Amino acid sequence: MTAAHPPERGGPLLLAIESSCDETAAAVLDGTRSLLSSAVDSQVALHALYGGVVPELASRSHALAITRVVQQALDEAGVTLADISAMAVTEGPGLVGSLLVGIEFAKGLALARNLPMVGVHHLEGHLFAPFLQVAEGFDEPAFPCVALIVSGGHTSLYHCAGPGSYRLLGRTLDDAAGEAYDKVAKMAGLGYPGGPIVDRMAALGDPTAFDFPRPMWRKGNLDFSFSGIKTAVSHAVRTIDVADETALCGLLASFQASACDVLAGKAFLACQAAGVKQLIVTGGVACNAELRRRLQRLRTEKGLRVSIPPPALCTDNAAMIGAAGYARAWARVQVGEGFTSGSLNARSTWPLAPLPATVEHRTKVRGA
Ligand code: KG4
Ligand code: ZN
Repeated sequence: MTAAHPPERGGPLLLAIESSCDETAAAVLDGTRSLLSSAVDSQVALHALYGGVVPELASRSHALAITRVVQQALDEAGVTLADISAMAVTEGPGLVGSLLVGIEFAKGLALARNLPMVGVHHLEGHLFAPFLQVAEGFDEPAFPCVALIVSGGHTSLYHCAGPGSYRLLGRTLDDAAGEAYDKVAKMAGLGYPGGPIVDRMAALGDPTAFDFPRPMWRKGNLDFSFSGIKTAVSHAVRTIDVADETALCGLLASFQASACDVLAGKAFLACQAAGVKQLIVTGGVACNAELRRRLQRLRTEKGLRVSIPPPALCTDNAAMIGAAGYARAWARVQVGEGFTSGSLNARSTWPLAPLPATVEHRTKVRGA
């Protein structure tokens, strides 16, 4: 019989692998909320030379790093492969060549050890990150909730009734928020990835220096668009001397104010529309200091519970993949289910929640 709930800690060991973009990562968990180790090999320095992720270089780099990273995760957990009872691996969405490195490596291990293995949706991984650890000053997460997943490849709002039960409320119609941060940094002649650099410099600038648009705000629905702000920044950057730090920091602070207004504002609207008081914010952009300040305001002024992981669990890692995969892998271990290679393949695109926001939902938000 399958036990209804997987253990939060102290259960069988699961090895998780993530390789969907430019981080090769492995982690060991002994429950849905218990992390024994998390190893991450970042390719940032490699891709910085080109100002963005180069897919072919990413997959080669994953292939070179994966054995070492998995061994590191096992060593840091103080275990060997013989102690592992199940595996989880990111199945998509992501770069196919990169995903395949993690998937084929995991298949090899699972086959050799006769371990059950589950494919995990990368965004479900991000969603589960705060269940492993919450950033200081924020709240323990719980279902039902609204999740704002905000990264280099995604900017989406979901209503999450429970694990595995998600409904898409809104998403970006063009660039992801992290992508906008990266492109703005590039326009200003700064490094890659742009998010952390803009975050740091914006803290020194005047956020009212430029009045950038708050796109999609008046439309009242929960979709995002960042290409308009990006275009406005590309015009504005030509009007300043980028060597003048005050002017540059003012421009970056104004961009950040606009992006964070929309992200925090729509997250709040989504909670109102879904009738929940619990918000989860996760993904690389959730590291952003200004966004965190605005989310703190939602806690104190609007009475929302807000859960964010610490920065190391916001950006890509395998711990979150393990947390999301643990429940499914647990169920398979319980029923003695074995490895089936045919059911697992790299998916470049893969909706987490195929249901679009309903007309009623949008109407409700407009009147909110
Ligand atoms: O979640 P993640 O590691 O990878 C994806 O799944 O995309 O997110 C990476 C993105 C990059 O675009 C990066 O610039 C952004 O997260 N990011 C930030 C910050 N730290 C990382 N954006 C704004 N502020 C930050 N502090
Ligand atoms: Zn990610």
